Amino acid sequence: MPGEQLMYIGGRWIPSQDGLWLDVYNPATGAVLARVPSACARDVDAACQAARTAFDAGVWPAMAERARARILFDAANLVRERRQQLAMLEVTNSGKPMQDALADVDEAAYLLEYYAGWITKLSGEVLPVGPDAMSLVLREPMGVVAAIVPWNYPLLMAMQKVAPALAAGCTVILKPAEQTPMTALELPEIFELAGLPSGVFNVVTGDGPGAGEPLVRHPMVDKISFTGSLEVGKRIQRIAADSVKRVTLELGGKSPNIIFSDADLERAIPGTCLGVFWNQGEVCSATARVYVEDGIFDRVVELIAQEAKKVRLGSGLDPATTMGPLISQSQKRRVEAYIQSAQDDGASLVVQGALPVNPELSGGFYVAPTVFVGAAKHSKIMMEEVFGPVMTLTRFTTESEVIDKANDTPYGLAAAVWTRQIDRGLRVGKAIRAGTVWINDSQPAPSEAPWGGYKQSGFGRELGRQGLEEFLETKHLFIRLH
Ligand code: NAI
Ligand code: MG
Repeated sequence: MPGEQLMYIGGRWIPSQDGLWLDVYNPATGAVLARVPSACARDVDAACQAARTAFDAGVWPAMAERARARILFDAANLVRERRQQLAMLEVTNSGKPMQDALADVDEAAYLLEYYAGWITKLSGEVLPVGPDAMSLVLREPMGVVAAIVPWNYPLLMAMQKVAPALAAGCTVILKPAEQTPMTALELPEIFELAGLPSGVFNVVTGDGPGAGEPLVRHPMVDKISFTGSLEVGKRIQRIAADSVKRVTLELGGKSPNIIFSDADLERAIPGTCLGVFWNQGEVCSATARVYVEDGIFDRVVELIAQEAKKVRLGSGLDPATTMGPLISQSQKRRVEAYIQSAQDDGASLVVQGALPVNPELSGGFYVAPTVFVGAAKHSKIMMEEVFGPVMTLTRFTTESEVIDKANDTPYGLAAAVWTRQIDRGLRVGKAIRAGTVWINDSQPAPSEAPWGGYKQSGFGRELGRQGLEEFLETKHLFIRLH
């Protein structure tokens, strides 16, 4: 029998007040891994009360900066000590290959350290307002934060929000995705052992309508930090408007990858494939629209096909695996429907990789790497986020043409440009309307650098100093001197 795992509110482990549970799956096999509480509005209310009380009583925001920093550093050490166990949970719950899960855990620990460091360096300003007065600008925590995260990087996305929110002095209610609550539920013990006062960090498990939405509506929440679908992001922004809650939205994209004919193909081919196939393509910044300069198009198609065929699908626990299953049966169906739509709209299939043959994996949610050429300009496969390992290859002739094509999207999260001419790389990088542009690489998102979208990819930034500022208010203190 799969184990039952409680959620964590106000320093206590509890079930849902409605007594409802959610099944959590292992996507590699389709087997049920555990059951977690399916939180209801009353549970969300309890979590908001706990976070509000902890904030208003000052147990966290008014703690000495160096003491707060110490707690986050200690939490980072505990994450590192539990590296293997956390990675194993992430693999069995999310399906990703072990080496990727280990990298996620390491970066989660680093995020705690990175933001712990900021706590003792953050400062305000003194402004020139004449000889008779003094203006102080203070940075204060926003208050109670609702962190709503998706299932593609369960621990890492949680930490991208939780670490800076705590560093800012906020209290937090984390709602992991219903598909992937397992690593989030390891965090309370870690923070408790590190000395975080109770009520400062809470985890509410449940689905979007049952747990996420009551959190968004709750009057005690000051700030919502959300990563997920465009559709839910728009809904959250609408609901948040009623009480003017602060909102940060990271809503994915349909990012371009441009290969100029002078590119170093030894790097561009594997880099382009990683940009679409990494994490099973379940990446908000997947550079899935690949544009290739005319003269090298046929060669690139062939090289990409060879590279795609090297991908080994399987369980994330198998060291030979380079691509795991998708997160769920419904995500698999969704991606397969996009593949079908591409064919219906006239695109030609170049390659579709092999599915795992191991009978133990027959219940898993696998979709093989899929590459198309000839997709129509505004067809679904070119305009909508697939969130699976599906690439389209499209020809271009001039720089200005490919810039127009790259920008022909409602999204603006990221882009990759491959060229040996640095001036061209920079020119194209500046011309693309996206929050991140990689030149001669795809996908790195260092924790020190800002991350977020232009256009409908969202607004606000995560990571870096900007990621901390999302959880800070600005106060002006004016003092009359004469
Ligand atoms: P989703 O947006 O429904 O789920 C993301 C998170 O939002 C989960 O924690 C979910 O419980 C919560 N949520 C859902 N409805 C909510 C509501 N009404 N109020 C508050 N919270 C709510 O994403 P879903 O349905 O799992 O995936 C669908 C598509 O969304 C994917 O195929 C992909 O295209 C996109 N997506 C983008 C992500 C990104 O990194 N930007 C991450 C996950 C999904
Ligand atoms: Mg949804």
